[in-house]
Order: sequence, then C-alpha cells, then structure tokens
Amino acid sequence: MLTEVNATRYVTPLREGGSLPGIVEADNLGTYVMKFTGAGQGRKTLVAEVICGELARRLGLRVPELVTIQLDPVIGLSEPDEEVQDLLKASGGLNLGMDYLPGSIGFDPLAYEVDAAEAGRVVWFDALINNVDRSWRNPNLLVWHGDLWLIDHGATMIWHHNWPTAQASAAKPYNASDHALAAFAPDIASAAAALAPLVTEELLAAVVADVPDEWLAGEPGFDTTDALRRAYAEPLLARAASIHERIVFDAPARTRPSQAPGWLADRLTPRPDRAKSTNDKDGVK
Ligand SMILES: Nc1ncnc2c1ncn2[C@@H]1O[C@H](COP(=O)(O)OP(=O)(O)OP(=O)(O)O)[C@@H](O)[C@H]1O
Ligand SMILES: [Mg+2]
Repeated sequence: MLTEVNATRYVTPLREGGSLPGIVEADNLGTYVMKFTGAGQGRKTLVAEVICGELARRLGLRVPELVTIQLDPVIGLSEPDEEVQDLLKASGGLNLGMDYLPGSIGFDPLAYEVDAAEAGRVVWFDALINNVDRSWRNPNLLVWHGDLWLIDHGATMIWHHNWPTAQASAAKPYNASDHALAAFAPDIASAAAALAPLVTEELLAAVVADVPDEWLAGEPGFDTTDALRRAYAEPLLARAASIHERIVFDAPARTRPSQAPGWLADRLTPRPDRAKSTNDKDGVK
C-alpha cells in the first residue's frame, strides 16, 4: 500500500505537464507533484502511474516516492486560475502524489551521458510497459543529484484502454526509435537477462496491490477489483519473457540541438565527473 497523506496547501501548477499537475504540500511536511483524478486523462492514467512506477522501483530503477493524497477542494478556493479551480473541484478524495525533487532538471540527451547498461534497463522497462511517452521530444526523465530519475508513467499499457483486445495488443513489438535513450547504445540483452527473471507473478501481485480500489472499481467487464488487478498483471508477465526480441529501432536515433545553456551543461554531467568537479573550488554542489 502506498502511504496516504492529506494535502494542506496548493502551491503552484506545473504548466509544462499536459495534465496540469500541481505542486502541493501535505500534512507529513512533504512536497509532492500531484496528479488529479479529475484531470481529462482520467483515473486510468493514475493506475498506470502506480503500477509502472512501483514496478520500476522494484526493478531497481529510480522513481521518486509515490503516495496517495487526500484532497479537500477547499484548499484551492483562493486559487485565482479558473482552470486550476475546476481541476481541484473535480478531484476531491484520493489523488496521486510523487515526491517533488527540488532542483531537478529535465533530461537533455545532448548534455548528459547515460551508459549503455542504464540506457538498456530503461529502454527494456519502457518496452515492457509499452511506454509511448519517453521520446527525445518529451523524455519524462529528470536529472537530480547527478542521477537519472524516471517520472510520468501515465501513457503506458495501452491495452488497458480496450481489455477485450488486451492480449493481442500486448503481444505487439515496441518501437524504440524515438526513445530518449536510443542514442546511448542501450544494452537490451543484458537488461533483459537481469530484469526479466525478476518480473514474477508474486512481484506483479505486489505491484498491482498498490493501486487504490476506488481507481479500479466499476471497470466494465470485471466483477471485482481483484480480477482487474490480475488483468493488469497478466500482459506484463507475458511480455517480460520475450519483449527484448521485439524491440525495434527502425531509424537512426534523431537528435536535436541541446536546449541547455552552458552553465547548465555542467550540472547535467553525470556523477563520476561531478565527483571530480565538487573537489574544484568552482564545482557545482
Ligand atoms: N517528482 C518531480 N520532481 C520535480 N519536478 C517534477 C516531478 N514530476 C514532474 N515534474 C515536472 O513536472 C512536469 C510535468 O510532469 P509530468 O510529466 O509527470 O506531467 P504530465 O501532465 O503527465 O505531462 P505530459 O505532458 O508529459 O503528459 C515534468 O516535465 C517535470 O518538469
Ligand atoms: Mg510528462
């Protein structure tokens, strides 16, 4: 079960996110990026965030802590933006929170090196969950304290939008040509050898158990939320065994000019180089 907290203050919207997530403070003194049940994308996005985020964490990938956040819409009454007001009003009850990483920076493939092993693990994992939202246009990766962190797993497991065709849909290949880490020679074979055996029925049962019942209840075609939890686990279990054979790179990875100003490139350098630079007088902490 995810930790549950209560929102105490709505701080600000994150306008770069399509679903208009917001930064909120909670009664455990934490600060979270909150994804709202009332957002247009619907609660399936939140289910995907929990299942894929918690699966990634159990596979040793870095994902900021996930919590559920109780929201009393009155905390948004003084919010001047009407769009935000409407979102808060539509989202009373349980929402999703991701630990806010202060000072983190959006991943830039031209300013940050990723080794082939790590790139392989991320691409393999994205193939497993069929993540269509980790492209070089919108990497949904953060760099924080010199490490790569995975965020935003809302656009994954496309099969959960049409359960009758889920099995066929889950058998399809994963096209990684536009993946944010495609240019780093991802070592897919080693990632599959290390991670696929970890994706067991038991592990998946633990992961799907983290989804709050109220985000699963009432799904057409399922009498119980437990049946729906099993339906989420099945395609992932099936894909884990062989998805590495169906990862397609059909064109050379595209690149684009780095968006990072010079001073930022320094902060985006990965840990080994940073370790050196923190010994310098001018090193960035
Ligand atoms: N845990 C976090 N710590 C710091 N910043 C974050 C965190 N999570 C998200 N952000 C920032 O908020 C932005 C939007 O978050 P996210 O991508 O999860 O939202 P979204 O609405 O699903 O976006 P998208 O437009 O990609 O669908 C991110 O690009 C990042 O800049
Ligand atoms: Mg995003």
